[in-house]
Amino acid sequence: MLISKKIVETQDFTRQIRLKGQKIGFVPTMGALHAGHISLINRAKAENDVVICSIFVNPIQFNNANDLALYPRTFEKDCELLKKAGCDFIFSPEVEEMYPEKASEDFNFGELETFLEGKFRPGHFKGVAIVVSRLFNIVNPDNAYFGLKDFQQVSIIKALVKEKNIPVNIVACPTLREDDGLAMSSRNVRLSEDERREAKLIYKALLSAKENKEKISIESAKEIGFNYLNTQYLSCEYFEIVNPENLRPLKNWSDHPHPVACVAAWCGKTRLIDNMLL
Ligand code: PAJ
Repeated sequence: MLISKKIVETQDFTRQIRLKGQKIGFVPTMGALHAGHISLINRAKAENDVVICSIFVNPIQFNNANDLALYPRTFEKDCELLKKAGCDFIFSPEVEEMYPEKASEDFNFGELETFLEGKFRPGHFKGVAIVVSRLFNIVNPDNAYFGLKDFQQVSIIKALVKEKNIPVNIVACPTLREDDGLAMSSRNVRLSEDERREAKLIYKALLSAKENKEKISIESAKEIGFNYLNTQYLSCEYFEIVNPENLRPLKNWSDHPHPVACVAAWCGKTRLIDNMLL
């Protein structure tokens, strides 16, 4: 497994691979890897000749300085996990390498970025789009793998490649969960024991929406989900039931056969998100 901090080296590597006519699978991450990330690597490994993973904590997608400062960094362990999973190349640039100057690209995702995370984390998806489009440019992958845990991120990335005509196939992968249902996340390590115990209610809240689907009004189902997540350690930011195609909040169950429930909640000082196809 090769590791590089440099754009030019990474471009040289991918050029060689392309010359051999081999397929590149790409998994962009911010490190602090867990089994959810590794499931993306495994999928990429199964569907491509060469797998490239990027590890870059992208400062411009954090709208909260504290979240960026506290973001876990476990580079050595990440490298071990990736090597074991059969990753071929890690691109792990410094901030100056990715952003020698202030990023100025502009993207417009219309109403897609006005709902859910877009509403509560202004500027977040612009930061994601800037870094992912630069990474696609550097790696030039055939397939790129993203987790459905970040449901809206997948929609934004699909809109990005369409808008900019980037020749990459976006593969959306299922969410890996802990035994009690909590979605795996790099931020989970920040939870205290008590917070961790309550965090599983996020999954329970999503399950409640699934159970209530078409039995009670959407409004009531949302209220029940929301109320699950206001406890000693949890504080719900939003609990929405949306159309998976455009992320518009639904008013009636008849508006879409397979809506998605999306949630963001603070667990102590840590913000967690999750979703479930209903
Ligand atoms: P990060 O949070 O490190 O996640 C990297 C990828 O892993 C994302 O596509 C995310 O959806 C996926 N992932 C996270 N938890 C998962 C789980 N429990 N099961 C399956 N997949 C999971 O998302 C980002 O980084 C960044 O925004 C990035 C795309 C790298 C741009 O900076």
